[in-house]
Amino acid sequence: MTDAPRLIDPFARAITYLRVSVTDRCDFRCVYCMAENMTFLPKKELLTLEELDRMCSTFIGLGVQKLRITGGEPLVRRGIMTFFNAMTRHLDSGALKELTVTTNGSQLARYAGDLYAAGVRRINVSLDTLDPDKFARVTRWGKLDQVLKGIEAARNAGLRVKINAVALKGFNEDELFTLTQWCAREDMDLTFIEVMPMGDLGNEDRVGQYWSLEDLRGDLRTRYTLTDLAEKTGGPARYVRLEETGQKIGFITPLSHNFCESCNRVRMTCTGELFMCLGQEDNASLRDIMRDSGDDNAPLIRAIEAAIARKPKGHDFDYSRQKADGQVSRHMSHTGG
Ligand code: 5AD
Ligand code: SF4
Repeated sequence: MTDAPRLIDPFARAITYLRVSVTDRCDFRCVYCMAENMTFLPKKELLTLEELDRMCSTFIGLGVQKLRITGGEPLVRRGIMTFFNAMTRHLDSGALKELTVTTNGSQLARYAGDLYAAGVRRINVSLDTLDPDKFARVTRWGKLDQVLKGIEAARNAGLRVKINAVALKGFNEDELFTLTQWCAREDMDLTFIEVMPMGDLGNEDRVGQYWSLEDLRGDLRTRYTLTDLAEKTGGPARYVRLEETGQKIGFITPLSHNFCESCNRVRMTCTGELFMCLGQEDNASLRDIMRDSGDDNAPLIRAIEAAIARKPKGHDFDYSRQKADGQVSRHMSHTGG
């Protein structure tokens, strides 16, 4: 049966959405996400697949209804389908309403069918450009063709695909309409993400700069009629419909504060640290509590409840200051996108 939300934070927000990073590794090196030479965590630091199952199952028992698997690139984690298959039982029981993935698409040709079989119905694919050379530049190691084939495989498997594009001035600004039209034609939702002060942006190899989604929205308005949609996900996304095409476009502005009051989510790293807010350093280390408590789940549950009890009201990102203030030192691949 469905568990009523048991995780309520100090601001009366029910935590029903857990994002889990299952690996810090990735087969790409996107400039805004990673440095080119990354040192990854030793395997013993990571939650095992069994531990990931126990951790997620505990959260689901506490009322989490939506699980998003992220990384790094989640589909490069060895044996990851074992974990997805283990989560299917929570979909079957009705406790879990949605199991979903954020992926760079590189492994989809191989895994799309397995994901669908495990109960995944919608996935987010990160894709910033449809130009092969620009794609190679922004991902450093990625191949556009492989990702496009992956997207095709996902759609053929029955997965609904949403494209996430990071908005970078001077990089994909000129592809705003190309990306929009491609998604309209292929019937895929499209969301633009404001770039956050992480990774190697601002260093010598930066490919673009901050492109405010307010400006991007203005650019869209030169060609389309935008209708604001009321739809809220408890996250930073806001949606519009383009009247001419009927398609839905999302805007994720993690730097604005307009969503914190409805925040319903927490994030777990691949080492079992729980971050209560994407923009704050405070976290709870759950791994060792779980490892040290044998079959007894009570200490883990207490630690989760204690962490939720100190979920902050909001974050401190601020681009209006001179430097990228409120910058968090960890990479996106650590906390998960
Ligand atoms: N700013 C915005 N989005 C980012 N992502 C990674 N790093 C950043 C950043 N600095 C996004 C990726 C992907 C998701 C995993 O996180 O593009 O959509
Ligand atoms: Fe990998 Fe995604 Fe980070 Fe790019 S943004 S390096 S694909 S985790």
